[in-house]
Amino acid sequence: MEKKNFQEKEKSKDVRLNNIIQAKAVADSIRTSLGPKGMDKMIQDKKNEVLITNDGATILAKMEVVHPTAKMLVDVSKSQDIEVGDGTTSVVVIAGSLLQASQDLLNRAEKMAQKFLRDMGIDVNFNDRDSLLKSSNTSLNSKVVSQHSEILSPMAVDAILKITDPEKDKTVDLNDIKIVKKLGGTLEDVELVDGIVFTQRVMRSAGGPSRIENAKIGLIQFQLSSPKTDATHEIGIKEYQAIDRFFKEERKYILQMCAKIQKTGCNVLLIQKSILRDAISDLALQILAKMKILVIKDIERSEIEFVSKTLGCLPIASIESFVPEKLGHAKLVEESSTADGKIVKITGVANPGKTVSIILRGSNNLILDEAERSLHDALCVIRSIVKERKLLPGGGAPEIEVSMKLANWAKEQSGVESVCIRAYAEALEIIPYTLAENAGLHPISIVTELRNKHLQGQTSAGINIRTGQVGDILEENVVQPLLVTSSALSLATETVVMILKIDDIIGAR
Ligand SMILES: Nc1ncnc2c1ncn2[C@@H]1O[C@H](COP(=O)(O)OP(=O)(O)OP(=O)(O)O)[C@@H](O)[C@H]1O
Ligand SMILES: [Mg+2]
Repeated sequence: MEKKNFQEKEKSKDVRLNNIIQAKAVADSIRTSLGPKGMDKMIQDKKNEVLITNDGATILAKMEVVHPTAKMLVDVSKSQDIEVGDGTTSVVVIAGSLLQASQDLLNRAEKMAQKFLRDMGIDVNFNDRDSLLKSSNTSLNSKVVSQHSEILSPMAVDAILKITDPEKDKTVDLNDIKIVKKLGGTLEDVELVDGIVFTQRVMRSAGGPSRIENAKIGLIQFQLSSPKTDATHEIGIKEYQAIDRFFKEERKYILQMCAKIQKTGCNVLLIQKSILRDAISDLALQILAKMKILVIKDIERSEIEFVSKTLGCLPIASIESFVPEKLGHAKLVEESSTADGKIVKITGVANPGKTVSIILRGSNNLILDEAERSLHDALCVIRSIVKERKLLPGGGAPEIEVSMKLANWAKEQSGVESVCIRAYAEALEIIPYTLAENAGLHPISIVTELRNKHLQGQTSAGINIRTGQVGDILEENVVQPLLVTSSALSLATETVVMILKIDDIIGAR
């Protein structure tokens, strides 16, 4: 009996140990991409498609991990991505480091750490555009597209400011920002559009217009073609007159639909993509062209909400319900050329401020995709500031400060508690350590210097990656939202506590 107990204990210890090793492996693999001098990863999938990124969440999402605890680390970066959008590398790096540190009391230590972190928070006002830009720059610093942060940051800030009322709003719905990618040009050609941008072309095969001023826009979800039965039917037609009659009927039917549309004053028609067949027949296109109604088809189902919110129109499900009240208004609908084909812009919308579109340009798809992900991080950073109006200095300053205060607090505790809190405090040093290491600096001496400066009360002393020295990181304009760091801390602790509670892995069928 005793023996069995002993064996069981050994087994669960092994499992715990293995869990920690596996999770550490994931954390280590991503650690090299932390910070401005972190390396980017090129990921090749099974289909041989290549992706270059520095985004922690993206790297981990693409990584093939099998071990369940390793998967948990992937998930924690996903959670951070959903919660705040940035800091997805940090959260995994901290979790990995915590795992090696102590076991119990993590929660207690974390609670205290959060308090210390909060003490450090610097209030930020939403009118303080400069601070917003700095925060966005910090998040873009570590991206492949960092040299373009001067262009991308104002985009992110302006986009969020356009759609939020900083006085009232507690959060931002990023779905209200549509990012359109278009190949060609450079990142510098990025454009903020107060309206909508479509990458599909205007339907002009029948000679319809491609530019409309004072647009009255209808958004339809039904098809502009003769009705078809669900199953295939065969119609036997015996005489020529019958064929004639058949086409006449069809023409009459479509003509009636188009006339109804025209009567409402609609001069721009947006048609939702139909999965079954073409949403608009050639005949209908011809008729609409004669009526000088501009047509854009293949609007994705997922875009409908954005379109209707932006233009102030209501989606129309059937021709019977096509009424003027459902139309949206805009000053101009215009197709314009880019190096990579045409785009359609709808601008001067009647009720602006609810949504905004950003056109990203780039010379290849890899850079375009990474620019989109980076812009997403920057938008999330600004959103985090909307949610909680506090900033922290970056460059490892918060982690060292909290670590130092925790270590002090540990001294007041006794026995095991004291040891554990100390361990927690030391684990946090992984962030400045890694930032220094990735920048090719001597991590131990940098962290020591950092600790000394914080001991002397220099709360905002951080690693200046540009000069390779420890200094007031606020002077270097490296700031980040409090929410990003505090979320990384709480999610990392939560995950580690969970991993530590697992003492067995059972294969399921
Ligand atoms: N110029 C800078 N000098 C010093 N530290 C910087 C600078 N810019 C950013 N940092 C620091 O880099 C860290 C963030 O690195 P990085 O953006 O690679 O990881 P992440 O935000 O955790 O993950 P991801 O951006 O992939 O979601 C933060 O600690 C931040 O303070
Ligand atoms: Mg980042």
